[in-house]
Amino acid sequence: MANLLSLSEYEEAVAATRDRRMAWWREARFGMFVHFGLYALIGRHEWAMALENIPIEEYEKLADRFAPEPGAPRAWAKLAKAAGMKYMVMTTKHHEGFCLWDSEATDYCAGKRGPKRDIVAEYVEACRAEGLKVGFYYSLMDWHHPDGWRCAFDPEARKRFTDYTKALVRELMTKYGVVDVLWYDVSRPMEHWEGWDSLAMNQMVRELQPDIIINNRSKLPEDFGTPEEHITAQEHDWEACMTFNGLSWGYVNSEQAAAYSYNAQRILKMLNTVSNGGGNLLLNIGPTPSGGVPPEAVEPLETVGRWIQNHGEALYGKLSRLGRWSPSGCGGITAKENTVYFWSWIWPSEGKLGLGGFKTPIVSARILGAGKELEVEQRPYRAVLKGLPERCPDETAGVGVIAVEFEAAPEFTWCAGYPQLHGGRSMS
Ligand code: GLC
Repeated sequence: MANLLSLSEYEEAVAATRDRRMAWWREARFGMFVHFGLYALIGRHEWAMALENIPIEEYEKLADRFAPEPGAPRAWAKLAKAAGMKYMVMTTKHHEGFCLWDSEATDYCAGKRGPKRDIVAEYVEACRAEGLKVGFYYSLMDWHHPDGWRCAFDPEARKRFTDYTKALVRELMTKYGVVDVLWYDVSRPMEHWEGWDSLAMNQMVRELQPDIIINNRSKLPEDFGTPEEHITAQEHDWEACMTFNGLSWGYVNSEQAAAYSYNAQRILKMLNTVSNGGGNLLLNIGPTPSGGVPPEAVEPLETVGRWIQNHGEALYGKLSRLGRWSPSGCGGITAKENTVYFWSWIWPSEGKLGLGGFKTPIVSARILGAGKELEVEQRPYRAVLKGLPERCPDETAGVGVIAVEFEAAPEFTWCAGYPQLHGGRSMS
């Protein structure tokens, strides 16, 4: 390995290649997270082992019952593609410690137990078959390995455990060709990059995979932030990861769970929020024990995909941020160069839509996918679009999009601050 860089040298080197490495990711917007592991057999949360304090000897036995159908990841990748997603991230090892590939560093893996196959290889093949970028989730925290907690207070255990971690990560970075994303998770019980030796580990990763994008959970900021179960814009590159049901990342074996799942409209709303804030959405599915797509995810994701076919220009590509407020209570916006896309959750009545906050002159307005030009009346801070059909024209999800083109990149002032109602004068 080349000589180790200091932290500041490393961060400078990583920053220098970031725009090149992240170009695809910054326009991709939508990816599929897949939580698959032994916990699928339990079907009540991927943290079951720790939450219920299941003894290691008892939990381990699941490894021999683990029997995903050969090629199961193909259905995940097909659904991801149909949903308009551009990349996937699968749990190669979750906190339970079971590795989904055939590892030389441990026997607690899918190559040696259960299916006796390399599920990571099947996953990679499935992503590539659908033209999706390949992401590996890897949990640093490990409840199974005896040094997984001793590392917190015993220097020899720490050395053994960081060597083990690096050996596993090295396997992932060398066995499968190009890996596009490395998605670390939970750094307990060592809450500092020095404990995990992340600086050396990630230099190794980047040497092996020069174009890789790494998330921020090895206690170094690396390439992107990871708000979890909430969609909150961050200043730098970010990706919100969301469960499908607000309950669990792993498979939920319960009829009740479907009632908590997102429908297409809620997913579109999430996509609007990430797009508007310059981020991506990594939406999770937890496959069934045999590796099937959880049934409640199918219809919503397929509907979202159909919607995106007509409205993709409002979502993909290089978007700009106009702030998180909207020019109307009927929907939310995304913006690209001179165009603002208005995503209507509530189709406006009376055939017209009022938009507050724009001073930049509007050139034209049209309904996406319907090719219908709208009439525009505009004065400072208020435009009225006329000639809208009475009912929302989108038949996929009932979310119509109106593309409003301006003379230049529009500026937007949120009117509900409301001096604009008083002719733009301050109210003091
Ligand atoms: C959390 C959880 C975990 C899940 C992850 C996804 O940190 O511990 O179960 O994999 O979030 O972001």
